[in-house]
Amino acid sequence: FKLTTVEEFEAATARLLETGAKVGADSWQMRVKNQTPHCKFGEQGVCCRICSMGPCRITPKAPRGICGCDVHGIVGRNFLRFTAGGAATHSDHGREICITLGHAKEGGDYQVKDPEKLIRIAKEWGVETEGKDIYDLAHEMSDLAQEEYGKIRGYSRWLKRAPQHTQDLWHAAGIEPRAIDREVSCALHMTHMGNTSKPEALIRQALRNGLSDGWGGSMCGTEFSDVLFGTPKPIDTEANLGVMNAENVNIVVHGHDPSLSEMICEYADSKEMIDYAKSMGAKGITVSGVCCTSNEVAMRRGIPMAGNFLQQENVVLTGACEAIVVDVQCIFPALGPLSKCFHTKFITTSPICQMPDSDFIEFDAGTAGEKAKQIVKLACENFKNRKPELVHIPDLKHKATVGYSVEAIVKTLDGVTNSQVDETGTTKPLLECITSGVIRGAVAMVGCNNPKVRPDTAHIELMKKLIANDIVIIASGCSAQAAARAGLMDKAAKDLCGAGLKRVCELADIPPVLHMGSCVDISRMLILASELAKDSGLNISQLPVVGCAPEWMSEKAVSIGNYVVATGLDTYLGVDPYVSGSTEVASLLTEGVRDWVEAAYTVEKDIDKLGDLMIARIEEKRDALGI
Ligand code: SF4
Ligand code: FE2
Repeated sequence: FKLTTVEEFEAATARLLETGAKVGADSWQMRVKNQTPHCKFGEQGVCCRICSMGPCRITPKAPRGICGCDVHGIVGRNFLRFTAGGAATHSDHGREICITLGHAKEGGDYQVKDPEKLIRIAKEWGVETEGKDIYDLAHEMSDLAQEEYGKIRGYSRWLKRAPQHTQDLWHAAGIEPRAIDREVSCALHMTHMGNTSKPEALIRQALRNGLSDGWGGSMCGTEFSDVLFGTPKPIDTEANLGVMNAENVNIVVHGHDPSLSEMICEYADSKEMIDYAKSMGAKGITVSGVCCTSNEVAMRRGIPMAGNFLQQENVVLTGACEAIVVDVQCIFPALGPLSKCFHTKFITTSPICQMPDSDFIEFDAGTAGEKAKQIVKLACENFKNRKPELVHIPDLKHKATVGYSVEAIVKTLDGVTNSQVDETGTTKPLLECITSGVIRGAVAMVGCNNPKVRPDTAHIELMKKLIANDIVIIASGCSAQAAARAGLMDKAAKDLCGAGLKRVCELADIPPVLHMGSCVDISRMLILASELAKDSGLNISQLPVVGCAPEWMSEKAVSIGNYVVATGLDTYLGVDPYVSGSTEVASLLTEGVRDWVEAAYTVEKDIDKLGDLMIARIEEKRDALGI
């Protein structure tokens, strides 16, 4: 069994960039050069532009801003604002899903595909389900879920899913998230000129705001996406640019919100549209994806993944992309000018994400089907505008098995060990693998690509190292796509594992790296950790489980990091979150918060060392448990 190497990825990119050079296209690789070196003040987080007396930059000669704020206050405020940006983004995505749920109807564009899950959540929330029409219940839950964003009293409903000990820690630390929007507003208020400059208070709110994302908005996103589109189950697909098909109309979906991509997939698969594509001279339609919207449709429909974050320009550079259709988040504005160098239609669809040089076709839950059809038709009609001399699709792809929701993991592992029958439907078989030492622990690999790290290398090298050490990986977002493209989600990748993990992969028929979904689906990881803690009687922080984002880049990733840490899981970063300028903020994040939530951050840019640190931490936790 052979993985596709990063060198092969890079050779494919280099070939595509040659096409780009021919047509005068810009690229992120060129823009990185133009932007290097980066501003040192920005990198250290010591530049403040919160008021117009500044901007103030802290240096040894100028240790305070004009208002008198010191470096710790400035770095802390910047960190909290970064978190608020991420929490707002995930949570607003979650809200859109709740709104879509309100539009679900029998025979409509959106339907309830997992009624059992809807009923389960309704019961959890104390909503009467007996004798209720499923769509009435969906609409009631849609309203209640949207109210979570602005409710006037109480805490997030989802917190109750955490182990009691975790809830107690949050209470003691004063970081239980209230209404989702309120935590974002509060963070912006706290960081306004002339408010909080005490690092401890800023970091506390950063954790609270993070929790309002993970145990609030993101969880709404994940759970109600499952209700609408189905809870993922293991499914086979393929990954990397080679999934695009030169003979077909290629539609690439990119972004995060599955409401759009689901509809595009639905229509692209219809006989009417396939016939239309044929009438335009193509053999059919291939939908593939980039970033998390791709993860969403891969997990539920087996739609292939063309690439992750730093591959988004590559799909256009193939010259074979009829339309790149985007919803929200992580979309390069560069796609506008780039698509103009080709025949590609760059179609923006959300009022939240509008860009120059794009065709804006506004998409909303009420008109979803009609708009999706319009977009698919446009892509088909664009096939004839292709310039054949520019078409080159790299011959690189790997098969992957994806779709490991918590429900799917529990089901898959049932019966793998010699557990008692009454333990099926719990995480106990997985726990048994861990306590017996067959699997040493688990790492949640998440996050983006970042040109500051050789793209995909950190994800892939860390995963290889961890699975060789019998540590199972659950992955989401662009990390999951890096794994899939390399071949780590091919079941044959079991050959790269240590003997214990290899055995589990064989018995359960799973790959060693489990695709758990998109970035909002990191809420699934919170639930898995909670279930493991409850089923074992341990605290989450005692489990030999850690989180890792080796190539992260977005504000969303910082919000995620905060809620993962605040849930009791040590989190390992390969890129510094602009806090090195303050010893106080850095030490709070890497040590101080441990007093509140029993976990903290580690930042290490040397990827091999980062892997060693995670393995050491997992072994340390095992030793403490005597397993
Ligand atoms: Fe400078 Fe203070 Fe204004 Fe920031 S808030 S720009 S440190 S004066
Ligand atoms: Fe994402």
